Amino acid sequence: MKHILVIHGPNLNLLGRREIDIYGKVTLAEINEAVKLKAKELDCQVKIKQSNSEGEIVSFIGETKDWADALIINPAAYTHTSVAIRDAILAVGIPAVEVHLSNIHQREGFRRKSLVAGVCRGQIAGFGLHSYILALEAVANSEW
Ligand code: DQA
Repeated sequence: MKHILVIHGPNLNLLGRREIDIYGKVTLAEINEAVKLKAKELDCQVKIKQSNSEGEIVSFIGETKDWADALIINPAAYTHTSVAIRDAILAVGIPAVEVHLSNIHQREGFRRKSLVAGVCRGQIAGFGLHSYILALEAVANSEW
């Protein structure tokens, strides 16, 4: 059974009330429920964490290196700025999938650059809650 750590970055706790035109009305609790349901269906075990702090996200990644077989991460705004999260993913050597609700390539120029994409197996962006489901399927069906 694969163990998957799911990490949500800053401001994702505000989903459902935050820029609804971009992120929709789905709440983080609803995303987490859908993730747990899909994980069960795929016979995977998930741990889900959210933090607004870069250092805490780095710690989540480091702390679970002995438990997790794969990481699904939406680093939110830190996607575009965080060398520390990139380095943490490299340091633990756990295969990672980068996820975004919105299509970051369709938005402001600064969102098109991801510092973590280069250390992830792949990136899924633009499908709202379903981006997480696709990431779970990618992990569950992979050889890693
Ligand atoms: C996001 C995209 C980021 O650019 C933004 O800062 C977020 C959410 C997404 O899921 O679409 O907070 O990661």
